Amino acid sequence: MLTRILRFPLPLKAASKINLLLEKLSRKVRSLLRLWQGDPSFLVMSWLARFVVVREWMAGRGTYQPQAVVEATLLHRVAGVCPLESSGQVARLIQSHGYYVGFSLQDSILQNLLTFAETMPCYANRDSALPFYLKDKAQFEQELGVPLLVAGYLDTHEKCDAYQKLKVDPYLLDIASQYLNHSAVYMRGELAWGFPTPNTLADKIRTARVYHCDINDFKTIKFFFYLTDVGEGEGPHAYIEGTHRNRRFSHQWMGQACAAIDDEILVKTYGRDRVRVVTGPAGTGFVGDPYCLHRGAVPSRHPRLLLQLEFGIHPYRIWYF
Ligand SMILES: [Fe+2]
Repeated sequence: MLTRILRFPLPLKAASKINLLLEKLSRKVRSLLRLWQGDPSFLVMSWLARFVVVREWMAGRGTYQPQAVVEATLLHRVAGVCPLESSGQVARLIQSHGYYVGFSLQDSILQNLLTFAETMPCYANRDSALPFYLKDKAQFEQELGVPLLVAGYLDTHEKCDAYQKLKVDPYLLDIASQYLNHSAVYMRGELAWGFPTPNTLADKIRTARVYHCDINDFKTIKFFFYLTDVGEGEGPHAYIEGTHRNRRFSHQWMGQACAAIDDEILVKTYGRDRVRVVTGPAGTGFVGDPYCLHRGAVPSRHPRLLLQLEFGIHPYRIWYF
């Protein structure tokens, strides 16, 4: 393409490098245009919200008044591990550490979600053209010709009663609102399987299995629930404590592109002693600021079913996908 434009021959290597660069640039411009046309305020936010000082300033402008009494909740204490803290205390712990680990789902809610996952189709690689039932996974993979790394339920989990109850759970909403210092706005959720499958670095980047941060608003908060037992072999979620507020300026500037930095470099930069790995039985719940560097490992032994719900400050008409 470039040599045709310039009308003089370039060395093959240089021409292909420049072509790659031009293609990358064109992809970037197309993506920026899509965001601009979808919702200009999202585009502005996606650039500004990468800076810690802007994030904290925006949260500081909020005027959320905590509930005097938080009513019934679908969560309960994790027996023998950690008491169920008040929503204010959980919000403060997230503010200082980036995450809070210490609650679990009521059994009836967990069972309802598991029944949904077993009886509704999920979608290979989150592709709406590739539905299958979990019980048929082996046959589906054979037909597809490749083993699956992930399968999600797209937005069908919105039809699940238990999910609808969690979305409006007063305890979760109060934690989210206190952390954001604004009345929390529900953004989206995901129910997805991670399967033990051989994978490449490109697969890991594509499926967020490398350390990264998510910038979906000036500040957001995400609740995670393991719906299957998760140990070291089931792809546990990990995060680097404190990186939601203490981050090198160069990494703030990069924003979500931090995912391109080698995991080992990020761990060395922020300290191996700050890496936290969350394991626990089915029903284990935890919550964090997804700007904190985090990743979900690829399972090596058994599949993992994870539920996530994200809340933010502003509603947008668009997001990255
Ligand atoms: Fe993420």
